[in-house]
Amino acid sequence: MKPLVNKIVCIGAGYVGGPTMSVIADRCPDIDVTVLDLNEARIAAWNSEELPIYEPGLATVVSRARGRNLRFVGQIEGAAHVAAADAVFISVNTPTKTEGEGAGKASDLRYVESCARFIAAHATGHTIVIEKSTMPVRAADRIKSILASAGPGVTFDILSNPEFLAEGTAIRDLEAPDRVLIGGERPEPIAALAEIYRRWVPAERVLSTGLWSAELSKLVANAFLAQRVSSINSVSALCEVTGADVEEVASVIGTDSRIGPKFLRASVGFGGSCFQKDLLSLIYISESYGLTEVAAYWQQVVDLNQWQKHRFADQIAAPIATAEGSLRGRRIAILGFAFKKDTNDVRETPAIDVCRRLLARGATLAVHDFKVTPDSIASEIGTQGVEVATSPEAALAGADGVAVLTEWSAYAKLDWTRLAGMLKAGAVIYDGRNIVDAEAVRRAGLGLRSIGKGERHVR
Ligand code: NAD
Ligand code: UGA
Repeated sequence: MKPLVNKIVCIGAGYVGGPTMSVIADRCPDIDVTVLDLNEARIAAWNSEELPIYEPGLATVVSRARGRNLRFVGQIEGAAHVAAADAVFISVNTPTKTEGEGAGKASDLRYVESCARFIAAHATGHTIVIEKSTMPVRAADRIKSILASAGPGVTFDILSNPEFLAEGTAIRDLEAPDRVLIGGERPEPIAALAEIYRRWVPAERVLSTGLWSAELSKLVANAFLAQRVSSINSVSALCEVTGADVEEVASVIGTDSRIGPKFLRASVGFGGSCFQKDLLSLIYISESYGLTEVAAYWQQVVDLNQWQKHRFADQIAAPIATAEGSLRGRRIAILGFAFKKDTNDVRETPAIDVCRRLLARGATLAVHDFKVTPDSIASEIGTQGVEVATSPEAALAGADGVAVLTEWSAYAKLDWTRLAGMLKAGAVIYDGRNIVDAEAVRRAGLGLRSIGKGERHVR
């Protein structure tokens, strides 16, 4: 049977639009998929062998579908594809507003609104418009009002189909998702989109709800995940002062099937483009409905995260700072800059706060990461006092202290006996991810401080 949706366009070729559409095209060779973006350099990269984002497995999926039923185009070429499309996904960024009403909290919908204007200008006949971006609850109303400006005979359905992939595991998450969520107002467009996902996702995992529930579920899912990280990070501080071990505590509570073992890794803090932005959006929505206590509850998840990042930076500084608190003349090796392993994404990475706090006290930083480019590092923390190292060894040479900020697997395997001589005498390793081989560090005669580990772990 011919699918109800034959031609798809996705506006936004970022971390979500690119991988999501690549997997849809890969799994549905009979559906024509066009991804468009106003960033021409990004489109050129999607059409090259050097894809603009790093995700394990992505290059293979793209190579199977690109040139067959998957194409990446610029805005101008994209207009004709929108005209011919049965469904258009909006997958553009929805960052926190920096000015105007709600600045610092509310989601900035200007990119989404510009997509809606573009669709209204170019769509023909009937088109299903799908919110793939994470939106505040009731954002579909705003999209609808813009689409209403389209010409006569041009009609739309709006669906909310939020994305739950995590970076670093995007392809795995897209190919075998816990669930696909489709929110809408009429059963027909929901069924048309569900039919696409059901090609590879078991039917019981394709959920449908009303529009507002789908929009809100996405924000709430991220808020709950972030809350778990802040919860275990609050416990990490308690463990450090009491002599308990946060990994032991996490593994004990995780055996309770009501709590579950996932997302209980204490860390230097959560990062990424979405957790903080989506929490702030939820806080703003709660405030705007007068739910002050609800807003304050979620605000604490953000505040705890900020505190954890600063607490970690201050721990690194404490033993090597002068009496006045200066770190001038002190060199600190930063191992890992991405917000998690297996990605080159540095948006809201905890490394930014930790590095800035150390730089503000005059430290010199030697930063290493396996996938993050020197330009990305410079754009977040500048170049003053920052050296980008091409290997962990180069970062460690002559360091007064070492901070492990990203859990890249290779950092867990570092040969500390070989590396110990490169560090300044007395240098301590601060493990913000609990991946460093504590036994190897001890054998090498080095000091180790790990997130959420009590005193017995300090030399
Ligand atoms: P991104 O910044 O990587 O990509 C967005 C792209 O949209 C950019 O390439 C930008 O040039 C393009 N764009 C913006 N306005 C445009 C317009 N008017 N026309 C054409 N292109 C336009 O963002 P992302 O990480 O892919 O996130 C997109 C959305 O998905 C956000 O709402 C985010 O909250 C949500 N989300 C992200 C993730 C993630 O892991 N990154 C996961 C789930 C949901
Ligand atoms: C997160 C969610 O997991 C996705 O479901 C969601 O789609 C996405 O946000 C989004 O909306 O953007 P992502 O931010 O890519 O995905 O990565 P996560 O694995 O959730 O990690 C987020 C941050 O929390 C990272 O800095 C990670 O290191 C940290 N984290 C995670 C911990 O510190 N401890 C944990 O136990 C888990």
